[in-house]
Amino acid sequence: MSQTIESILHETRLFPPGAEFAAKARVSGMAAYDALVARAQADHSGFWTDMARENLSWRVAPTIGLNDSNAPFFKWFEDGKINVSYNCLDRHLTTQPDKLALIFEADDGTVTTATYRQLYHRVCAFANALKAQGIEAGDRVLIYMPMSIEAVVSMQACARVGAIHSVVFAGFSAKSIHERVVDAGARMIITADGQYRGGREIPLKKAVDEALAMGSCDCIEKVIVYRRTGNEVAWDPARDLWWHEAVAGLPQDCPPTWVGGEHPLFILYTSGSTGKPKGVQHSTAGYLLGAVMSMQWVFDIKPDDVFWCTADVGWVTGHSYVAYGPLAMGATEVIFEGIPTFPDAGRFWRVIEKHRVSIFYTAPTAIRSLIKIGPDEPAKHDLSCLRLLGTVGEPINPEAWMWYHNVVGQGRCPIVDTWWQTETGAHMIAPLPGAIPTKPGSCTLPLPGIDAAIVDETGTEVERGKGGFLVIRKPWPSMLRTLWGDPDRFKRSYYPDDFQGRYYLAGDGANRDLDGYFWIMGRIDDVMNVAGHRLGSTEIESALVANPLVAEAAVVSRPDDVTGEAVCAFVVLKCPRPASHADAKKLADDLREWVAKEIGAIAKPKDFRFGDNLPKTRSGKIMRRLLRSIAKGEVITQDITTLENPAILEQLNEAAY
Ligand code: PRX
Repeated sequence: MSQTIESILHETRLFPPGAEFAAKARVSGMAAYDALVARAQADHSGFWTDMARENLSWRVAPTIGLNDSNAPFFKWFEDGKINVSYNCLDRHLTTQPDKLALIFEADDGTVTTATYRQLYHRVCAFANALKAQGIEAGDRVLIYMPMSIEAVVSMQACARVGAIHSVVFAGFSAKSIHERVVDAGARMIITADGQYRGGREIPLKKAVDEALAMGSCDCIEKVIVYRRTGNEVAWDPARDLWWHEAVAGLPQDCPPTWVGGEHPLFILYTSGSTGKPKGVQHSTAGYLLGAVMSMQWVFDIKPDDVFWCTADVGWVTGHSYVAYGPLAMGATEVIFEGIPTFPDAGRFWRVIEKHRVSIFYTAPTAIRSLIKIGPDEPAKHDLSCLRLLGTVGEPINPEAWMWYHNVVGQGRCPIVDTWWQTETGAHMIAPLPGAIPTKPGSCTLPLPGIDAAIVDETGTEVERGKGGFLVIRKPWPSMLRTLWGDPDRFKRSYYPDDFQGRYYLAGDGANRDLDGYFWIMGRIDDVMNVAGHRLGSTEIESALVANPLVAEAAVVSRPDDVTGEAVCAFVVLKCPRPASHADAKKLADDLREWVAKEIGAIAKPKDFRFGDNLPKTRSGKIMRRLLRSIAKGEVITQDITTLENPAILEQLNEAAY
């Protein structure tokens, strides 16, 4: 880690905001940023309460800001009454009913749109369908949908009636759906017959059917199915209901259900350092405030912008910057069903040109893969509509940053590298593009009202230039409230005793340079980041050992040019090791498919190595640092005197499959 810190601290390029951009920005110049920071420092709770009153539409405005009487179970705006869907739809109906809210581009290029008025009616009709099926405030609804207008409608409709949604990324397996249904005690699933990605049709309802056949899912009363592909699906008439039939004849208006500021808006499962995903629970008002303020501060959103966040609604980015933030700001946004490389590596740039996208937000892994397969593609398109670029999900290497800046942004567009997490709800450390000069590879400075710091293991802030643990010292409105059904795990994971429970521990290592800029170094726990997606080592290990052939498994990551990190699995079999390369390859492929079935295709290990054992200390602990070295192809120079079985290293060092 220290080597990486060294190298990035030698990054001296500085990109101040252009004069024209800064002049028009919502927050213009460093003095304006400093003033906001100072205001928040002077009165943290008061600052956020002012923001909440000014930027959200309330049924009853809150008088209480932060309530920290039961730390770390913080509350914000608890005496306010509000509805998220009202803030995203109704409040734009009088001012801009005919403005486009959503521009949906399907995998095959077909475009459909919805104005604010149309979206409002679609959400209301579907909210009425939810009510007609008995869904009430506080009920959990699982959403397993392709990127579509209907995915946004289903989330908004849940918010409208006060139901708590839990979106499961449509690439996750039946087993993952099952686990989440049971943990959340969901009453309903909203899904589609299938989806299209990269020209392929992928069934979705089939996975839901499989999940519900796994047992212990009596909580599910109804499955609503949106017809996307038109292909045949199995049908349980007592349980399944077509979307179009569910809304048929229902009124297109539906009064919002007003809920308290702290009412849970959604649960989103994410990987942690144990085998069981964590149900991150978000609030209503504080969450929405985070989305709305970051849309203004970081994306500098303006009425005539066309905003495009490429994230799927299955991830938090697709919650805050697809389903909620842009709509709460009354923006026009693009939503996209496809993938960046279909039909070719020019797809993103074509979509930008076609819909005149002005703000584009994507992941470093997508940028790296497009540099690799189509570096000249952006130049073939008219990208003069772009004015701001963003990245999220993982550190961006300076080379990729420079390409994004020069080739995509044509040197004109500021880049906002946004550090945040499922748990933080909204951007935490990111440049305000009209104020903060950027440095390639740094997410720069914390947002106003966000008290980020880097501390050592005792919780003491480290000197500038030294690395440590990234923490947030004061609670903030959009933070997670707890882990669904597991408050103890919430406390242990995020407010550990190590720091006397005072600070939110992000789980990332970071460094601050002499200008105070933050540089994220990656996770400090057993969580990996593959293509911007969070995967727990333990989760993949549990999936592997569930295979009848596997006795033991250890999973680590190694650096990868495109995906940032790649998953490497070390496996001990119950039977002898494969005798030939062909056998080993076949077994590795079978285990990859197994992991895809257990978790989802994104979790498939890239490399497999088979050994008679794993490197362990005499007390039986797996020596992961050795496995990391082997995964990277390094010569092992580390101290192996505590290793119980040194001979195993040679075996594991053989070819990977
Ligand atoms: O390690 C950090 C990395 O992604 C983790 C959060 O993952 P997730 O909850 O899935 O949310 C991803 C989208 C917000 C963080 O702990 N990460 C996220 N953004 C950045 C980042 N690492 C470096 N730079 C970023 N901009």
